[in-house]
Amino acid sequence: MTQDEMKRAAAQEAVKYLSKGDVVGVGTGSTANYFIEELSKWGGAVGAIASSEATASRLKSCGIPVLDLNEVDEFGVYVDGADEINHKLEMIKGGGGALTREKIVAAAAQTFICIVDETKVVDVLGRFPLPVEVIPMAASYVLRTISELGGDPQIRKNFVTDNGNIILDVHGLSIENAAEMEQTLNNVVGAVTNGLFANRPANIMVVGGKSGVQIARA
Ligand code: A5P
Repeated sequence: MTQDEMKRAAAQEAVKYLSKGDVVGVGTGSTANYFIEELSKWGGAVGAIASSEATASRLKSCGIPVLDLNEVDEFGVYVDGADEINHKLEMIKGGGGALTREKIVAAAAQTFICIVDETKVVDVLGRFPLPVEVIPMAASYVLRTISELGGDPQIRKNFVTDNGNIILDVHGLSIENAAEMEQTLNNVVGAVTNGLFANRPANIMVVGGKSGVQIARA
């Protein structure tokens, strides 16, 4: 089984958690793209809340109505991939740069289903560089502050987020206490969002692997 086949298998499984008439939150990235295909085949969602412009246009091209989060009181399920996920279902996200909107949609959802292939599951988060979205005028201040915290932040080249900001990718972290690190980075003025999803971890992890799909719950 290839990595793409494992991603698709996880995406297929996630559709089983949906009910007809649901509004569904949809993440960003290659695994989320497989989920959009599966969602479109299933046809039961009345609409979707997109975590990025790229996801919004993909949903529309599949005929799935895209709703404004501000017009939806409450919705059940958010489905998204991750760059890394540990056994507490804490994640690093933002490899595609959509971390801020992903975090907002995840916060508003009752249930976060993280769909990954088995290469994304780790014991300790941090080998994947941690993305931090930063307001451009704060770039050098945030860079210095994160360096003082022990990371090695690098500006992502030729990249602007959907919100008009830049991304710092922080290398060299071994994140033993993800919730604490997330809070610490939340306090850095000028940093909009960091890619740690620990204070709001996933509720369900669906892992596509060589020997089939495994499910874990927080
Ligand atoms: C997008 O900003 C990310 O958070 C993605 O969810 C993450 O990078 C996973 O992407 P893939 O499914 O493409 O690996």
